Amino acid sequence: MPGICIVGAQWGDEGKGKITDLLAERAEMIVRFQGGNNAGHTIVRGGEEFKFHLIPSGILHSDKLCAIGNGVVLDPRILWEEIDGLRRRGVDVANLRVSANAHLIMPYHVLLDTAGEMKLGKLSIGTTRRGIGPCYADKAARLGIRVQDLLDPKILRKKIMAAMEPKRLSLRPFEKDPLLDLHAMTEEYVTYGHRLEPYIADTARLCWEALDGGDTVIFEGAQATLLDLDHGTYPFVTSSNPVAGAACIGAGVGPHDIDEVWGVVKAYQTRVGAGPFPTELEDEVGARLVEAGHEFGTTTGRRRRTGWLDLVALRYAVRLNRMDYLAVTKLDVLTGVEPLRVAVRYRSSEGAVFDEFPYHQSILHSASAEYEELPGWTEPVGDCRTQADLPAPARDFLRYVSDFVGVPIRLAGVGPDRDQVIWLGDEPALRAA
Ligand code: GDP
Ligand code: IMO
Ligand code: MG
Repeated sequence: MPGICIVGAQWGDEGKGKITDLLAERAEMIVRFQGGNNAGHTIVRGGEEFKFHLIPSGILHSDKLCAIGNGVVLDPRILWEEIDGLRRRGVDVANLRVSANAHLIMPYHVLLDTAGEMKLGKLSIGTTRRGIGPCYADKAARLGIRVQDLLDPKILRKKIMAAMEPKRLSLRPFEKDPLLDLHAMTEEYVTYGHRLEPYIADTARLCWEALDGGDTVIFEGAQATLLDLDHGTYPFVTSSNPVAGAACIGAGVGPHDIDEVWGVVKAYQTRVGAGPFPTELEDEVGARLVEAGHEFGTTTGRRRRTGWLDLVALRYAVRLNRMDYLAVTKLDVLTGVEPLRVAVRYRSSEGAVFDEFPYHQSILHSASAEYEELPGWTEPVGDCRTQADLPAPARDFLRYVSDFVGVPIRLAGVGPDRDQVIWLGDEPALRAA
């Protein structure tokens, strides 16, 4: 199948990086379509760990084209550090392409993100403070600065001036910050322009050429469905659309170009930052999941909140993205948790039952989850490579999840390494036979 979209089904950090790296084996091109360096995607190969914030998770395959699409917001300093870091580790990045239309995160976006969070105090969203929200806000306000502007110092300077003008009041506390000096900022960004110039391209056209030539293109999502600006737990969301539909806009292709949607879901639930979390565990089981799953943010190092797998939310994510397949990660982390619980409905504070994910914020905030109890298993599963190797309760767990949401599970992760995976059913012949 030529167009494959990979999205997160929960609140992020499901293991999209690992799944993208695995499926990339059978693709020719991998493109990131939204988000920025709020993302942290991890790949572990033979014990060696790679963390990507902006570069698509296909980059370890040196023969694949990897594109940062127009829908991404890009901090050029971070991108440069990432390119440089990979080169130092001997990874060839010659096949990286960066959309000329992607918007740039500027120093004032980062300052405003932090200032905004401080101002909200107890009501803060818990953003990654990477300037994501303010950058997308400028994009919508048509005050954004794009990658292509890096190549023309005069235009760049004018656009920076125009973008900073309406922010004068909110930037006043940072007046003396050298980061905001117009001359220095322009110089710094022009330097990034020189460095990135060889990578800048019309990435939408590259996608069309690949797809029209019958190549397989992977659209790699960042963040996840429940953090979607429109469909997530607003306002505790990110400022882009991580759902599959957004791959079209963020990469520049049409809906018919996407043939398969894969949802990545952890065998339990995690969330970094604030917002409702009906299945949250604040007890020793939650602490155990944090420890066994190493649940600390890839980008900010924050401890992730943990809870039981939420099938009400998963069914919602399946429908929103119209998922074809699921990849269930971190099954190994559930070893020894007895009994296991999965949320199958919510109950509001007034006692009303919700089988479907409620749209109303106050209901979601006060909803408690109701569970189905499933038998756990005690055997470590990290060395299992086929479905038959798994303990029966682990197989039953996967079957229960798949039946509940009505989507086949094609992959199960049993450890961080790329080899620690079980293909369920046939390994996919990704290119149409
Ligand atoms: P992403 O943002 O969705 O790409 O996910 P992250 O990389 O932020 O977080 C997922 C974490 O889980 C990373 O540390 C991965 O190495 C790790 N991981 C992925 N799959 C598995 C798995 O099946 N089992 C275990 N134990 N860890 C996994
Ligand atoms: P990956 O791609 C988990 C969360 C932040 C915060 C909210 C808004 O690695 O799954 P933002 O900085 O985007 O304005 O923060 O979104 N968040 C993520 N949580 N994984 C991510 O990315 C995230 N990117 C943003 O913690 O709650
Ligand atoms: Mg992550």
